[in-house]
Amino acid sequence: MKVLMGEVISLNRDDHWVHFPDGAICWDNEVIVDIGLRSEVVARYTDATIIDKSGCLILPGFIDCHLHFPQYEIMGSYGEELLGWLNKYTFPEEISFNQQDKAEKVARNLINNMLSNGTTCGVFFSSSSYKATQVLFKNLATLGLRGVVGKVAMDRFSPEELIVLPEDEYTQTKQLISEFHNKEGRLTYALTPRFAPTCTEALLEVTQKLRAEFPDLLLQTHYAENKAEIEWVQELFPQHKSYLEVYNHYDLLGDKTLLAHCIHVEDEDLKLLQKTKSKVVHCPTSNLFLGSGLFPYERFDEYSIDVGFGSDIGAGTKLSIWSNLLSAYEIQKMRGKSLSPKELFKLATLDSAKILGMQNKIGALEEGMQVDLQIIDPKKHKLLNDRFTRELSVEEKVFSLISLCDDRATDSVVVAGEFVCY
Ligand code: GUN
Ligand code: ZN
Repeated sequence: MKVLMGEVISLNRDDHWVHFPDGAICWDNEVIVDIGLRSEVVARYTDATIIDKSGCLILPGFIDCHLHFPQYEIMGSYGEELLGWLNKYTFPEEISFNQQDKAEKVARNLINNMLSNGTTCGVFFSSSSYKATQVLFKNLATLGLRGVVGKVAMDRFSPEELIVLPEDEYTQTKQLISEFHNKEGRLTYALTPRFAPTCTEALLEVTQKLRAEFPDLLLQTHYAENKAEIEWVQELFPQHKSYLEVYNHYDLLGDKTLLAHCIHVEDEDLKLLQKTKSKVVHCPTSNLFLGSGLFPYERFDEYSIDVGFGSDIGAGTKLSIWSNLLSAYEIQKMRGKSLSPKELFKLATLDSAKILGMQNKIGALEEGMQVDLQIIDPKKHKLLNDRFTRELSVEEKVFSLISLCDDRATDSVVVAGEFVCY
């Protein structure tokens, strides 16, 4: 058993702040068994190993519900909107992941960088390479980040080196599922058609078939990110009423479906998202960087559609979820709205856990949940430390972290009860 002492800040599943300025968390193997006042917790577990992080903040690890493994090294590529950016920077870079040594190097760097930013769970698009996807899974297992991974499926309007034909996609996907899905406690597979424009009908049918065979898998794709993208889908699929209806036609919607972006969405499609219980992933720094649009946050609330949170690197510009949350706040400000510190913090923790179906496992520091947490030392970050010299409420502290915090302030990170190296 271990007892970790410090200032605990979390949201519980009833939407209340859990705040113990002088607090402690006790865990046994991977699971939290107690959380509360330091003096009381310490007294209850006299045999436990004590880890004293006084002066530090203990928070749930972040969940990044959407990012691209093979785009780590093209973050900050200048000047394009989505379709130009894909052709000019993204596809050429993803081809280089057909080389195993490149995949190995980037997997290590990306995972370490995520951990050093306090992210303890990631939902990844790999490239279309079977081997690169194996490399990502293996590095996640070694380095200890919790992960959901999919080999991206694409078979048209992209360079030949990235195309995998539907029958090969079927075989390779099944192979990856049998090798990695739930084989190691923290890793699962997600079906990952890139987006409708780069998928033929035959590939969408293969995805439909795989989904029927493996109904417990998550499915991730992109949807309604950019106006030119939406017009293109209408040209490519004139028989379907809308972009979303294309996915619906192939039975790709449902409560295990994660749709990244969802910026330009009509009422009819909001109703369809609601009816199918499909999930939305908001990726604010990406939306700003590519000039895709301003996410209509409250519309999803109106229709009771669950929203989670993602960095979407390499179109996203920050791996730090704090920085992505600040962009989410600023986007709503530009729309004349305001997200509260609680809503923002919840987006990257409990809300994200919920869209992955993991709300009873991760996203909050509560008894019975997995020990996935980040420890922040304000003293390591000059500005944050200066900000924290005054008396702040828990909401003010969290919003200061959203505004100012980054990886400089990370002291250490725990996944499934183990301190990870990065
Ligand atoms: N739509 C299809 N592929 C991509 C991608 O790699 N990034 C983003 N942001 N949108 C996409
Ligand atoms: Zn994306």
